[in-house]
Amino acid sequence: MAYKRILSGMRPSGRLHLGNYAGALENWVKLQDEFDSFFFVADWHALTTNPSAAFEVQENTIQMIIDWLSAGINPDNPIFIQSQVKQHAELHLLFSMLITKERLERNPTLKEQARDLNQDTMIYGHLGYPVLQAADILIYRANVVPVGEDQAPHVEITRELARKFNQTYGDVFPEPATRLTTFSRLPGLDGRKMGKSNDNFILLSDNEENIFKKVRTAVTDPQKVRRNDPGHPDVCNVFTYHQKFNPDEVDEIREGCESGALGCVACKQNCAAKIAGYFEPMREKRTHYEQHMDDVQDILDSGIKKARQVAEETMDDVHKAMKMG
Ligand code: TRP
Repeated sequence: MAYKRILSGMRPSGRLHLGNYAGALENWVKLQDEFDSFFFVADWHALTTNPSAAFEVQENTIQMIIDWLSAGINPDNPIFIQSQVKQHAELHLLFSMLITKERLERNPTLKEQARDLNQDTMIYGHLGYPVLQAADILIYRANVVPVGEDQAPHVEITRELARKFNQTYGDVFPEPATRLTTFSRLPGLDGRKMGKSNDNFILLSDNEENIFKKVRTAVTDPQKVRRNDPGHPDVCNVFTYHQKFNPDEVDEIREGCESGALGCVACKQNCAAKIAGYFEPMREKRTHYEQHMDDVQDILDSGIKKARQVAEETMDDVHKAMKMG
């Protein structure tokens, strides 16, 4: 094979926001030319923190995939849904025999999530989250996994499981490498991490009017109270958005903000217009896909087919190595 393979996934969260874009999707779009690429929706994983998420999975999956396609994910890559490739579940079960509960309890991402959710007890499947993730990755024998920093511990567990399986039964799996997303987290409007549950997000599909409504509420430098007060761009969320989506004007904006010549309202207006402009081609593509939902379904169907084929081949090798199944 000419190219190494990457695989990455997202839980189905519906329409994506700028944080999802800067933290993952933008990177996927770049990497797809360099690698044989598999992208999938981790819908079973969505149940670990909320079993009732099942009822929203279908709609959230479609909306998210429309955003992937609109952002430039090439539909010739396999794009698919975890729950439609049942082999992930079988491999997850087999892997669950090769790792201890103590190892999984040391997972820092899990500890963080449990803290955020105020959980003092844990769902069995939540503890096993990285075991399912390892199955997602290894069933396609991916060499590289592009993820954000919070997911790096899961790729480490994946490597351990690959090693353990190979030692126990024979060589079937590569040990995949982590490829960290380079752009640091895009802050939400209020300065916390941008997230759906924080109500501090801008969607890729928001129009200019909505974007301006949202950016208007963004937290800026608290010391810049009046228009002509000198500001500190480095503590301003709107300035971070300018850096990301309006790089050409960054020096000018810094100067204007620091000198007091540029007020926050005008700066926010400009920022909203630049964000809207940046994502306009994607909004247009979204409109196209919304009017051609059959195409989206066809892309998914063929992605699922390709994914199943590869997953089946891997499981054949697994069964042979184990002399079982
Ligand atoms: N855990 C990942 C997240 O929440 C999603 C995911 C599931 C994933 N399986 C994966 C990412 C396999 C990369 C590879 O972001």
